Amino acid sequence: MESMNEIKEFAKANYIPIVRDKTAKKLTEICKAQFPSKILEIGTAIGYSGILMLKSSNARLYTIENNNERAKLAKENFEKYKVKDRVTFYIDDAQKVIEELCSKNEKFDLIFLDGAKGQYIRYYPYLKHLLSGGGILFTDNIYLHGFVQIDGKVPHKHRSMVMNLRKFINTLSQDNDFETNFYDIDDGFSVSKLK
Ligand SMILES: C[S@@+](CC[C@H](N)C(=O)[O-])C[C@H]1O[C@@H](n2cnc3c(N)ncnc32)[C@H](O)[C@@H]1O
Repeated sequence: MESMNEIKEFAKANYIPIVRDKTAKKLTEICKAQFPSKILEIGTAIGYSGILMLKSSNARLYTIENNNERAKLAKENFEKYKVKDRVTFYIDDAQKVIEELCSKNEKFDLIFLDGAKGQYIRYYPYLKHLLSGGGILFTDNIYLHGFVQIDGKVPHKHRSMVMNLRKFINTLSQDNDFETNFYDIDDGFSVSKLK
């Protein structure tokens, strides 16, 4: 695979959050093992994780980003890494797009949830609907710098996001339609397989 270091360095220098290395390793392992034909990604940023997933599978990627500047860079990267023809790109609000995909009854084998953390709980029923049987929901940043796991006071600016992430984790762990494993690695991620 062409080196992805250039995108990583760019993201770091420009404070653009991208998937961390150990999380990316698990995500690409799943892509290789699962043979997804359709992947949905919430939160493209500049295309780093999308390219990793495409290079680790033969899938088509449907990806959503609402920041125009990042979307422009992502498009350039999809072209540069020669995956452009396998990408359906929505430059729009994720909630709006997933509702549209649900109304069209689209199904995905793998969903990488990596958008606005406070919205995960809101997206949850839609994403569940969009997964095909045996499909995987891979969710990043579930522990949000450890704030989700602490007993003490959460700083005000993170409070609602943390509350929503806790609700999301509770919902996932109680949903018997999924078999979920939680990983305390990097910023925390979960892998949920729809039965
Ligand atoms: C953590 S970054 C994604 C990183 C990317 N998946 C990667 O690892 O290379 C989250 C992205 O979600 C986007 N985002 C936040 N809220 C969104 C929304 N409501 N709709 C679509 N995208 C959104 C942000 O602009 C940001 O680029």
